[in-house]
Order: sequence, then structure tokens, then C-alpha cells
Amino acid sequence: MLKEKVQKSLNQQMNAEFYSSYLYLAMSAYFESDNFSGIAKWMKIQSQEEYSHAMKFYNYLLQAAGKINLSLIEAPKVGWNSAEEVFQDTVKHEQKITKSIYDLVDLAAEEKDHATNIFLQWFVTEQVEEEATAMKILDRIKLIGENKNGLFYLDHELGKRGASN
Ligand code: FEO
Repeated sequence: MLKEKVQKSLNQQMNAEFYSSYLYLAMSAYFESDNFSGIAKWMKIQSQEEYSHAMKFYNYLLQAAGKINLSLIEAPKVGWNSAEEVFQDTVKHEQKITKSIYDLVDLAAEEKDHATNIFLQWFVTEQVEEEATAMKILDRIKLIGENKNGLFYLDHELGKRGASN
């Protein structure tokens, strides 16, 4: 049986993952409207991946006989000024998510909720990858700078991304 505090935080994290899905979909739309369909595809897949993260929380809550609390999802901002700004926001967002996952792990440990702690370990590992990927793309965009050909090449590269989990 989940403790009240743990259940509340799991629901909050589920909401944060749904927000992540919304955020990356907004970013995908931004790139689509700028005709960078490869980066748009990458972001759309990222959005789907975030939806699957939210559903992991949903399924875990149900399995653990917890209550699902689907609350309002914040609207992401509309429009960015550059690809660099988008990926800066992506890095910042993933760092924020990592922090909230760590806080949840701390809470599970404090509450001696070993099952929730084990469930969260997948997210701890996933966040290392999420931050590293976003950072790598941001670094490449910084290197490309004003070079349009470089950005088109990156668009082509990111467009090769296939759907994952
Ligand atoms: Fe679900 Fe990108 O963290």
C-alpha cells in the first residue's frame, strides 16, 4: 500500500512527464513550421517517449493500488527564437526532471518504500541518457552557429531517429 505522500509525489511526477510530452510536441511544431522536418520528427518521438514515461507512473500507481490523479497539464510556451534556444530549454527541463526524480527517490527511501525506490531506478538511469543527449545536440548547435548548411545536416541526422520505448 502506498503512503499518501508517496502517492501524491508519484502523481505529480506523472503530470510532469505529461507536461514534458506537451513541451516536446510544442517544440516539434516550432521546427515543423520552420521546415526543419528532421528535428521536428526527433522532437515528436521525444514527446511520445515522455508520454510512455507518464504511463509508467500511471501503471505503477494502479499496480500498487494507488489512486490516479489526472490534474491540469500546464501549457508550454509557444515559439522559440532559435534551435539553440529550444535545446537550451530542453537541457534545463531535463535537469529539472532529474531533480524531481531524485527528490522522489529520497522520499521513497525516507518512507522505507523499497518497491517504489526500485521502480524509480529505471528513471534515474534514463535521466542520465536524457540529459546527455540533449546536451550533445546543444553543443553541436553551438558549434554550427550561423552556418545554415550545418543546421540542415543536423536536421537530416536527427530525422533518422526511430521510435523507441
Ligand atoms: Fe521523462 Fe525526459 O524525462
